[in-house]
Amino acid sequence: MQYFSGKTVWLTGASSGIGLAMAQQLADAGAHLILTSRRAEVLEQVRQGLAHPERHRVLALDLSQPEQAADQAREALGDQVIDILINNAGVSQRSLILETDFDVYRQLMEIDYFGVVALTKLVLPRMAERRNGHIVTVSSVAGKVGTKLRSGYNGAKFAVIGFMDSLRAEMAEHDLVVTSILPGFINTAIAHNSLAGDGSALGKEDPDNAGGISAEECARRSLEAIAAQKAEVIVGSGLSKLAPLLQRISPAFVRRMVAKR
Ligand SMILES: NC(=O)c1ccc[n+]([C@@H]2O[C@H](COP(=O)([O-])OP(=O)(O)OC[C@H]3O[C@@H](n4cnc5c(N)ncnc54)[C@H](OP(=O)(O)O)[C@@H]3O)[C@@H](O)[C@H]2O)c1
Repeated sequence: MQYFSGKTVWLTGASSGIGLAMAQQLADAGAHLILTSRRAEVLEQVRQGLAHPERHRVLALDLSQPEQAADQAREALGDQVIDILINNAGVSQRSLILETDFDVYRQLMEIDYFGVVALTKLVLPRMAERRNGHIVTVSSVAGKVGTKLRSGYNGAKFAVIGFMDSLRAEMAEHDLVVTSILPGFINTAIAHNSLAGDGSALGKEDPDNAGGISAEECARRSLEAIAAQKAEVIVGSGLSKLAPLLQRISPAFVRRMVAKR
């Protein structure tokens, strides 16, 4: 993918799943990567396994504390030019509202929403000044259709699509590109790492995710959409891909369907 060749791409959530697959494909495409997630050692192993490891660097950040993470990143990056920011890091949820601690909602918003806002605001002034840059966020089909067990995740993923829509409108006059990626069910560790009602990790698989498309396929289709400078793309298969369309055509049908599942 020529679009990424020689570009500096800051990728969050690069230690696992979709982000790891994106890192591998971006490195193969000639990008220079800044790899972010919490686990520095895992990111270092990822870096060493990529094509041209010397072109890439690790920047470990905890996005559950977005302002602190942005301060750390500001210091680490200095005046380094970022061509593309891919906000991919995220955490999901599997708990009923009646059984979910309030703090779980805060955590989901910090990582899945404020983390995106903080890193975007960090790179944006320079991109606007250069009239060159591309901001990408991996939201979810859960950012279009609310379902059981994901109330906080749905809230954060809906919110981030709204932020990206507003960003796209404001940045048009600065010639910046803004892309939202909405995966359906993808076979990664997302369910395993999801928050339960007390904020602990769920620690088990979800058959819907296990039956989804691979992280590699999701990364490939997402990077194609980014390279084509699409505004928004749904990546998935089956019902999870169709759900946003069904929601537009027949919201009442979708309401009945999600209440039964
Ligand atoms: N899999 C799906 O079915 C699916 C569907 C729709 C949308 N998505 C979205 O796709 C994105 C990637 O998810 P995935 O499926 O690849 O899941 P994953 O394998 O669990 O990866 C999540 C990534 O986010 C990072 N992360 C989690 N908490 C973080 C924090 N506090 N600070 C910094 N990084 C953090 C993790 O790294 P560390 O543990 O090293 O911090 C990891 O690299 C997420 O935004 C998710 O919501 C996934």
